[in-house]
Amino acid sequence: MKNYLVDIIAGARPNFMKVGPILGAWPGGRRIRYRLVHTGQHYDRAMSGNFFRQLDIPRPNVNLEVGSGSPAEQTAEIMKRYEALLARKPADMCLVVGDVNSTMACAIVAKKAGLKVAHVEAGLRSGDWRMPEEVNRVVTDSLSDLCFTTSVQAGRTLLQEGKKRSQIYFVGNTMVDSLLAHRKQFRPPALWQEARLIKGKYFVLTLHRPSNVDKKEKLGKWLRAIAMNCRDYPILFPIHPRTAKTLKLIQVNSLASRLPHTARHKPFSEKCILTMPPLGYLEFNYLVQNAKAVITDSGGITEEATVMGVPCLTLRETTERPETVTMGTNELIGTDPARLGPALRRLFEGRWKKGRIPPKWDGKTGIRIVEILKKLNSLR
Ligand code: UD1
Repeated sequence: MKNYLVDIIAGARPNFMKVGPILGAWPGGRRIRYRLVHTGQHYDRAMSGNFFRQLDIPRPNVNLEVGSGSPAEQTAEIMKRYEALLARKPADMCLVVGDVNSTMACAIVAKKAGLKVAHVEAGLRSGDWRMPEEVNRVVTDSLSDLCFTTSVQAGRTLLQEGKKRSQIYFVGNTMVDSLLAHRKQFRPPALWQEARLIKGKYFVLTLHRPSNVDKKEKLGKWLRAIAMNCRDYPILFPIHPRTAKTLKLIQVNSLASRLPHTARHKPFSEKCILTMPPLGYLEFNYLVQNAKAVITDSGGITEEATVMGVPCLTLRETTERPETVTMGTNELIGTDPARLGPALRRLFEGRWKKGRIPPKWDGKTGIRIVEILKKLNSLR
């Protein structure tokens, strides 16, 4: 039997912790091999290199080095470069994870080049077509031959959309594999000492969705609402590059002057909200694990907070990960900053739900995926 080559695609920060456990479970021998392809969608050390190092992910075999651009430019560049790679060095399967532009771009190219496409984290739907990720999810799933899901609901969605039962595998969550495997290594960032942080006495904030951060008025409203409702707890805010661009345009003084009297003496960027560059995986999750709560517009962080049992307030109207709300510690606050105050009051009064861990989020998902790939390969 001919050797079988699987391209594993990683492009942006939230992909790295999803591919790591699959690579870690990969079998030795030559029957089924992988080629790790980094598209270069995220390229900074803080957004990419550090994650490979901290998560012990092998160096990519290929880096397409696409860099940034408008959504269409970036997608087109990934497609062109991945197509050229396949023309030079063909593969048999393309395995993509998550919902970023790299996921969709490589799935399209692979399918047209006659490869089998496998999607890890298939079947998630927010129903919100304004999110670029929703388009990426639907297109990727529609092309996928194999769909690996994180929940029973995701499988139902795929069936409703016309996938065959034999294409869907409920395997759990590789992001959780990474979290559980590295939990013992979590470590405080340098600022832990400097800011004299105390366990359970601060918040972690992340914002990077275009709808929340691309307009300075909207971002300013969120930051004011957060600063006004978090009492005197420091708010730790690692800044995504996209958010950094808008944050530069916000007048720090005008924000601080509109804070309530108690917070007014705390300059926005110094005491009340502590901004910092993106953190490493181990440092970020240390902060989350020990926080009073996380305030975020990310999807992946809601899953991590659920597994760590930390309250999570999501600044979005919808989620593609409903089990973080129905089973986990997450609650959708919406996109109106006025709704944050009552939710935080409940949190401070100790009336936040406890949450439980969804089925198969047990640290063994990478192993399950690799076992399925091996079995399918042996049936070829
Ligand atoms: C992407 C994903 C999003 C994911 C997020 C996590 C898509 C559609 N979106 O959004 O789902 O949650 O990553 O981080 O794929 N930049 C840097 N350094 C980098 C990478 C980007 O400075 O290493 C800057 C660039 O100026 C770029 C901007 O950040 O224009 C946004 O990057 P981009 O990859 O377009 O999308 P994200 O907002 O990061």
